[in-house]
Amino acid sequence: MAAAVPSAPAEQFVARCRELAGVSEEPGRLTRRYGTPAMARCNALVGAWMRDAGMTVRLDVAGNLVGRRPGTDPEAGTLLLGSHLDTVRDAGAFDGPLGVMTAIALVQRLRDERVELPFAVDVLGFADEEGLRFGTAYLGSRAVAGTFDDRLLDVLDDDGVSVRDALRGFGGDPAAVVHAGAARRGERLLGYVEVHMEQGPVLEDRGVPVGIVTAIAGATRVEVRFRGRAGHAGTVPMALRRDAAPAVAELVLFAEALAREATDGLLATVGRIDVRPGAPNVVAGEGVAFLDVRHPQDAARAAAVGALRERAGQIAAARGLELIWDVRLDNPAVAVDPVLTDRLSAAVTGLGLPDVRLASGAGHDAVALSALCSVAMLFVRCAGGLSHHPAESVQAADAGVALDALYDMVRGLAGHDL
Ligand code: GLV
Ligand code: MN
Ligand code: MN
Repeated sequence: MAAAVPSAPAEQFVARCRELAGVSEEPGRLTRRYGTPAMARCNALVGAWMRDAGMTVRLDVAGNLVGRRPGTDPEAGTLLLGSHLDTVRDAGAFDGPLGVMTAIALVQRLRDERVELPFAVDVLGFADEEGLRFGTAYLGSRAVAGTFDDRLLDVLDDDGVSVRDALRGFGGDPAAVVHAGAARRGERLLGYVEVHMEQGPVLEDRGVPVGIVTAIAGATRVEVRFRGRAGHAGTVPMALRRDAAPAVAELVLFAEALAREATDGLLATVGRIDVRPGAPNVVAGEGVAFLDVRHPQDAARAAAVGALRERAGQIAAARGLELIWDVRLDNPAVAVDPVLTDRLSAAVTGLGLPDVRLASGAGHDAVALSALCSVAMLFVRCAGGLSHHPAESVQAADAGVALDALYDMVRGLAGHDL
């Protein structure tokens, strides 16, 4: 990686990402799901850093952490910055927190340099982007955007706790979430800008610290449940079995083959399978495959999901199983806003860096926020393209470049009527 001298704040906020990685539900690895005590501890820590940077801090009705720096002109509106604070299971330190820490560092710099902006800046630490607990994603950012479907409240986690109860336990308000209590509709919003680690190898290959996002691929997540009948592994004859385990296996292999044979960017993943009751000497009465399908083009993603559904139906019919096809997330590809994106680009080139553009295969809170306001994203180079892995890594020097670019962009916005 190109050597640049990291500024002290960049060292500090990268260290803060690493410190947050210790705030976990599980000893020895980072897992921080929506509405958990670990999430509350994380919010307390990040909230304190927000206050140190001069922001007022609150939890909104969906459990998102919101730090606010008022502007000098109440009519000038609000710029939204941030990313998510929840994680996948056995996560790395930077996916999500990097964007929140960069935004806090920006506000800190504005304060240190006594820069007043006409507009307010809100730093959002979203409570659920990964969707680990409930299999769906963007619970926090959908509430802010006003697109939180009330059916989401009934979705259950592995312990049978609903989103509704998790939300209440966390100090949130289910009714207010559904009735757009957390939504920022009607407010004057200048847009949402998210800094995020790249999660791929493009910037490292190109030898640049940051890149500008052009679009975010669409994603569908489906919980595919096969229901058969449990029974004794030593007594139920093979011909009479209604075994869900081989059905799951067949679907996993079909999904892999479908995506491998496609040459147009289709990705299909089964990142989790469950069989129940889950004992070595019991035929599986129920089996679940958690499917994740991505494609830059919505029609191609829909076709792939259709093929997977048809195959799941055939597998179920051939094995005498019931099929339950539960779509947990279905998001179209999202285009970023050209005006905000050009401003980001001007900030990056103003630092003497090339304007490298790239699409995001991963999902981000910007997807949900795009229903509310214009969005733009800046990616930061990461080591080996690795993410959703404990070894994910971002250099402080690169994070410092992202902070400088965001700072220049935000100051530039102050001089323009958006
Ligand atoms: C988030 O990381 C996603 O793309 O699922
Ligand atoms: Mn992620
Ligand atoms: Mn992320």
